[in-house]
Amino acid sequence: MKKPTRVNHPPAVELPADNHAVVAPIYQSVKFEFATAEQTEAYLRGEREGFYYSRSSNPTTRQLELLLAELQEREDCLVTGSGAGAISQTLLALTGSGDHVICFIESYSPSRYLIRRLLGRFGVAHTLLSIEDLAGVERTLQERRTRLVFFESPTNPLTKIADLPALTRMARAAGALTVLDNTFAGFHQHGRYDIDVFVHSLTKFASGAGDVMGGAVIGRSELIRSLRADFGVLGGALDPHAAFLILRGLKTYFVRYRAQCSSAERIAQLLAAHPAVARVHYPGLPTHPQHALAAQQMQEFGGVVSFDLRGGAVAARRFADTLELFAIAASLGSAESLVVTPPLMGHRDLDAEQRRISGVTDGTIRLSVGLEDCDDLLADLTRALAAAGC
Ligand SMILES: Cc1ncc(COP(=O)(O)O)c(C=O)c1O
Repeated sequence: MKKPTRVNHPPAVELPADNHAVVAPIYQSVKFEFATAEQTEAYLRGEREGFYYSRSSNPTTRQLELLLAELQEREDCLVTGSGAGAISQTLLALTGSGDHVICFIESYSPSRYLIRRLLGRFGVAHTLLSIEDLAGVERTLQERRTRLVFFESPTNPLTKIADLPALTRMARAAGALTVLDNTFAGFHQHGRYDIDVFVHSLTKFASGAGDVMGGAVIGRSELIRSLRADFGVLGGALDPHAAFLILRGLKTYFVRYRAQCSSAERIAQLLAAHPAVARVHYPGLPTHPQHALAAQQMQEFGGVVSFDLRGGAVAARRFADTLELFAIAASLGSAESLVVTPPLMGHRDLDAEQRRISGVTDGTIRLSVGLEDCDDLLADLTRALAAAGC
């Protein structure tokens, strides 16, 4: 073999059968081969196990899928290149022209955009309601045959809580699928409810370091199997190296999530006692209007705290600018604390009445609490509240 050939066919290093890497290797390969054309064809006919092309499956992304399915207490999972990719591919795969979808004012704005604008272009109708309007959901389900109900809990950005027993009961009775964006609650929560499909942004709590993007769709095997073929051609696969980083992040997921919740609770208490703050939105606070429901549905209340400054838009901007430990940046759930002001929350598609229902005011702030020492965070927040002139 000449050297230019050898560099493309380097020596193989096989591990002995009783000798394993403690951390699974990254299968950074687009292609996988079988020994013969006949075996390759058998794989493509679904007659044998294996891997062929990483856009459809890869051992590293598969390891992540199996782990996430187990954490969320479902049978199977598909991972994607981002949370938005998980949502868009799920919605495209589950709906068709003539279908009707229920979605909510209180949600991550790109999800609303996807349903209202993008699916709308393909003939999928929608009804936009408040997550608190259970009577409206029931009435809509009775009046219109509905393909799916897409919702969040806690919601982004104001941490409203969806009534999971009520919503799942109504949807099941009407033959509609429930799709829950469970990014805020995390993989270890809500598994015991009758949710058909969980979607997650892995960019947030899963990886935790804020350096990698990913998404996941989790559900029973038959449903995930039916999505897999569409996802393969939609082409939003997660790269194996990103899957490896997310698997690495998940090793510390529980420790991080709990530490972030604990700091979030202390921060919510500090804000609730401050004269500059009109209202705090954190499901762990007994003053949250749905605290009892949250306590029933969740073991931990999440790392996002929102609140309304009495001083409105001017105070909100000054507050965010003064903070030193909270970066003014998108995303949430990773090690570094973040802050966003109302114009960064993406409510431009809502009319005045919908905006009122959303609860976001000109002085609303969303904090994503990181892993810094909580006393330092409290001191930074106290200083910013004073500097905001409130
Ligand atoms: C609730 C929620 N769902 C989905 C997403 C989208 O995730 P990604 O940024 O990984 O596309 C986000 C992003 O902020 C989010 O907050």
